[in-house]
Amino acid sequence: MIIAIDGPAASGKGTVARALAARFGLPHLDTGLLYRAVGFAALTRGLDLEDAAALAALAAGLDLAAFDPEALKSGPVGEAASRVAALPQVRAALLKLQRDFAARPGGAVLDGRDIGTVIAPQAEVKIFVTASPEARAARRYRELSQRGEAVSETSVLEDIRRRDARDSGRASAPLVKALDAVELDNTALSAAESVARALEIVAARIAPP
Ligand code: DC
Repeated sequence: MIIAIDGPAASGKGTVARALAARFGLPHLDTGLLYRAVGFAALTRGLDLEDAAALAALAAGLDLAAFDPEALKSGPVGEAASRVAALPQVRAALLKLQRDFAARPGGAVLDGRDIGTVIAPQAEVKIFVTASPEARAARRYRELSQRGEAVSETSVLEDIRRRDARDSGRASAPLVKALDAVELDNTALSAAESVARALEIVAARIAPP
């Protein structure tokens, strides 16, 4: 069983994906980390974030295990990730790794922006996790403040809106709900409620009433 979880920044799709992976004993790939690793490496090496050829080469040789996941979670790295993710050459360089992960014999859970549309259109279960920009900004603000980043809630909201516009507006594999995805709007839900709703969606898909 392939479970595809897509949605905008800070929608809680990672929480849902991790919980479903644990519940069904499936491996999980947070595909945002791939773009974040490319963004992080590009920033560290001082690469131009529009140099598609250099960034694609970086993406092609990427070893995710070499990165500290914590270092990939910062605001500036998220912004760089969103920029490099708009380049079709970078997306192409990361395609095989993601498709191979989705094709694991026992199944897999992947979360990102284009899992249900591009990476695994054949997924049995597709969930589009979303929430209002304000709710997502409040969550991201809490997360970044806890990490000790000096940010304001207003700047986080602006950042979320800018990333939404870039991720949804790009020509290559934009963030869009797959036609056969079920939407899970968790604006008014706790993380636990969001996970419970996701479990109901999976149950309805694999054993329709
Ligand atoms: O989910 P995230 O915030 O960790 O993702 C970081 C950026 O990576 C996001 O702004 C867009 C990009 N991304 C993408 O384009 N496609 C994916 N499947 C996952 C992430």
